[in-house]
Amino acid sequence: MKLLRAGRRVISSSSGQQQAVITTLHDAQLSEEWEQAVPYEKVPGPKRLPFLGNTWRFIPLIGDFQIEHVDKVSKRLYHKYGKVVKMEGLLGRPDMLFLFDPDEIEKVFRQEDALPFRPSMPSLNYYKHVYRKEFFGDNCGVIAVHGEKWQDFRSRVNQIMLQPRVTKMYVKSIAATSQELVDRIKTIKNRNHEVPADFLNEIHKWSLECEYLTNRLGCLDSDAHPDTQRLIDAVNTFFINVPILELKVPFWKVWNTPTFKAYLNALDTIREITMKHVTTALQKLDKEESGELSVLQRVLRLENDTKTASNLALDMFLVGIDTTSNAVASILYQLSLHQENQATLYEEINTILPDINAQITHEKLEQMHYLKACIKETMRMYPVVIGNGRCTTSDRVIGGYQIPKGVQIIFQHYVISNLKEYFPRCDEFLPERWLKGSELSKCHHPFASLPFGFGRRMCLGRRFADLEIQTVLVEIIRNFKIEYHYEKLDYHIHPMYTPNGPLKLQFLNR
Ligand code: HEM
Repeated sequence: MKLLRAGRRVISSSSGQQQAVITTLHDAQLSEEWEQAVPYEKVPGPKRLPFLGNTWRFIPLIGDFQIEHVDKVSKRLYHKYGKVVKMEGLLGRPDMLFLFDPDEIEKVFRQEDALPFRPSMPSLNYYKHVYRKEFFGDNCGVIAVHGEKWQDFRSRVNQIMLQPRVTKMYVKSIAATSQELVDRIKTIKNRNHEVPADFLNEIHKWSLECEYLTNRLGCLDSDAHPDTQRLIDAVNTFFINVPILELKVPFWKVWNTPTFKAYLNALDTIREITMKHVTTALQKLDKEESGELSVLQRVLRLENDTKTASNLALDMFLVGIDTTSNAVASILYQLSLHQENQATLYEEINTILPDINAQITHEKLEQMHYLKACIKETMRMYPVVIGNGRCTTSDRVIGGYQIPKGVQIIFQHYVISNLKEYFPRCDEFLPERWLKGSELSKCHHPFASLPFGFGRRMCLGRRFADLEIQTVLVEIIRNFKIEYHYEKLDYHIHPMYTPNGPLKLQFLNR
């Protein structure tokens, strides 16, 4: 019989003895569950080939998996194999277990370890822990970091990144930055009111400006510092190369492939620019120049530690820019396709903020339920991060199967949140389903749409992201009616889940 490690026994006091009894009962229950479960070998999934495992599936021309279309690959796997699918034999990485079942996802999250382990990117792990080890030392941030080092860092920055009291203080600056994006749209749109094909890049600039690492970066200025575009390009290069390094044959582990070189250079660029911002933040703090403290300055003031500040900044640049900007691009696109919903949203904004120049405040945003519903509905249908995961740190029974320690559990959020089983009329854009009291709101499973993850490792930037997205939408929708007059765009992974094609939106002045 396989032993399950379910916890430590504490037998030093009477309450300790009670605890020991509970733990032993729990152990016994788990052992029984394990014995009744189906062996791991029986989990369905694509068969591996000798030597190449399943990695060949990502080889162009012969393979049937395209990185850009992992969304469609996941759907296919679900329809072919069901709610629990094993993906084994990807060279250089552990087996993955794809979960398409919110009940099972909830179970995994509820039993989460105190130090949850998200399947990390080995390539970023290499960068932080080997290639630039002297720079990062023991204080590596949170991305691709695990165990006590992760916990130590995360608990220090949680209080700045996640406290509503702190994020609230930034509404005014985020609103000012969003106003800058509105001005920029007015400048770049043509006589037909249409923005250029690379409009997403302008949203990236807005998102970068929102990071509040120093008080103002000037990213949306027409004479923005060249570092703005360098940083945006570097983050893009990083993300585009991650899946290539992780899912294709990992030649980079043996020699410096061009993809790997580009990836390392991109990370070096992000690191170099980050350090400049930390230095500026520090100088301003020293001179007591700053009125409103930037996020970096708050970390510096709290910790008096430039390492923590720079590593937080690096992680924020890595995962905070493209996620938020692609979410905004996707929501604007959906609103342009769904004019009735856009009109309802405009009505809500206009009722709560009748004066177009009135200051957006936290209290006003709180009243905008339809706004939040539009955001949630877009994230349900097109989550910018289509899946998430955890590594099992002990043997577990998942979906009725014996899953050994070390397997990477991948939560297939995109597929799940587009199944009618969990969201009736799932193919329709219906923000109403997120409003309290609506018929549709009653039936969805709380773990069927989790765009920011869940638990202790949940997105560190979610409060900022929410605030930024809400604010910029209010600013844009109260200024413009958005339309789109071209062929409907499909979505692809590039590097986030985003509309595939030029976002030539029309912004008609209100
Ligand atoms: C729409 C915008 C965003 C989305 C959809 C998003 C989504 C996610 C998801 C799914 C995770 C994994 C959570 C888990 O494992 O349970 C995550 C982690 C993370 N996110 Fe975000 N994110 C967004 C914006 C941001 C922003 C703006 C920042 C920073 C300013 C940020 C910083 C982070 C960090 C640092 C982590 C790693 C947390 C850890 O491992 O402890 N994110 N995000």
